[in-house]
Amino acid sequence: MDFELSALPYAADALAPYISRETLMLHHGKHHRCHLTKLECLIGGTSQADESLEAIILEAEGPVFDNAAQVWNHDFYWKSMKPAGGGVPLGRLGVAFAREFGGLGGFRRAFVEAGRSHFGSGWLWLVHSRGRLSIRTTSNAELPLVDGDTALLCADLWEHAYYLDYQNERARYLQAFVDFLIDWDFAAANWREAEMKRPQARTARATSGVAPQRRSLG
Ligand code: FE2
Repeated sequence: MDFELSALPYAADALAPYISRETLMLHHGKHHRCHLTKLECLIGGTSQADESLEAIILEAEGPVFDNAAQVWNHDFYWKSMKPAGGGVPLGRLGVAFAREFGGLGGFRRAFVEAGRSHFGSGWLWLVHSRGRLSIRTTSNAELPLVDGDTALLCADLWEHAYYLDYQNERARYLQAFVDFLIDWDFAAANWREAEMKRPQARTARATSGVAPQRRSLG
């Protein structure tokens, strides 16, 4: 894997006023970078460092898992947003979205409520799980990849993601995320990729008789 911090896919002030330049600079330049630096301290120069970030996440536990997963989650979070985002997904994801949530209002209510009611730090996800769309939260650094599911987009629920702009009002941050920031093209690309993998996953499960296993956290 590469221990270089990936650049933000937009300028640091591009998501303002919904996420300020100050928040993005701190979040990307300090918090995200810190996880990468810690991960390099933990595995740099070992054979593990030659593996992909995803492989490290699936094999690791403890601090290596925590920091590797947080690097992946933050990279994914930046891509889940874009300036002048929001709206609704189109194409096949749009069809699944309408079927699952009945439209933007239903999705917005369910997504914001899931994130608002999540206790403590974590992540809020829209996930492709066995051909269906679902909203879920994970605690700390956990992510859908370890359950064999495909993330379509995510919002960071750690306070550093929103405290400077919204203080303790997590729901307001999530409403702005849905209304003005989501990059549905990114989610749709992830949906297509998940759908392409799905027949292979079914075949693999049928052959082995074993569903994808969540790694033990000990
Ligand atoms: Fe974060």
